[in-house]
Amino acid sequence: MSTKYVWDPFVRVFHWSLVIAFSVAFYTHASEWNRLIHVRAGYIAGFLLLARIVWGLMKTGYASFKKFPLNPVWAVKYGDRLLHGHAKRYIGHNPAGALIIYAMLALGLIAVGSGWLVYNEGWLIDQPEFLQAVHHYSTWGWLILVAVHVLGVIAESILHKDNLILAMITGRKDLP
Ligand code: HEM
Ligand code: HEM
Repeated sequence: MSTKYVWDPFVRVFHWSLVIAFSVAFYTHASEWNRLIHVRAGYIAGFLLLARIVWGLMKTGYASFKKFPLNPVWAVKYGDRLLHGHAKRYIGHNPAGALIIYAMLALGLIAVGSGWLVYNEGWLIDQPEFLQAVHHYSTWGWLILVAVHVLGVIAESILHKDNLILAMITGRKDLP
């Protein structure tokens, strides 16, 4: 058994920082008292998402967008094989994971952008109810994606006896 270096430090720091920023923003969403914390956590999440997009465009290797292309047909096929217990093991992101990752990046940017516009009421787009609805659906939709993402990570870790969570911490994966 040998190990392979898969996730660079940027990807790992990005991931766990996004988990914290998202969790803080969600935890503080309902309170006027915590609004400044909510807004700052949201801006940090937005900055992380933009930085990850630049990294994905620039980098070669497993962090590069070229390495995990957006292909919904592959994603559905992979999801189906995963449910039937005979999905192929990927060292980087699998096609179903890739689809959810792109959806999270896109919805995350919409969530942060709409939050920014709701907060700076009247600036750029003067449609408060519409913006509140966009912020509501994008943030709760993102939460649903996170739930599917975490279930997918657990399912794949069990099926392939491959601890994906540990790999997102250490950056390394075991190869048979
Ligand atoms: C707020 C919650 C979360 C968000 C927004 C999120 C987002 C993401 C994103 C964007 C990626 C792609 C990483 C990249 O290529 O840069 C990713 C990968 C990953 N996430 Fe999360 N994540 C969340 C929670 C979690 C949690 C709680 C876990 C652990 C239980 C987890 C485990 C992983 C793992 C293992 C990968 C790599 C998957 C693979 O090997 O293909 N994530 N996540
Ligand atoms: C990680 C990013 C973010 C998440 C997960 C998030 C989540 C949420 C949620 C769940 C709500 C309650 C919406 C509802 O149920 O109707 C909310 C409300 C709100 N958020 Fe965010 N948010 C984020 C980013 C931001 C940013 C960047 C800002 C401002 C710069 C912001 C400003 C607001 C404001 C002002 C409200 C109250 C809206 C109202 O009056 O209905 N949010 N946010």
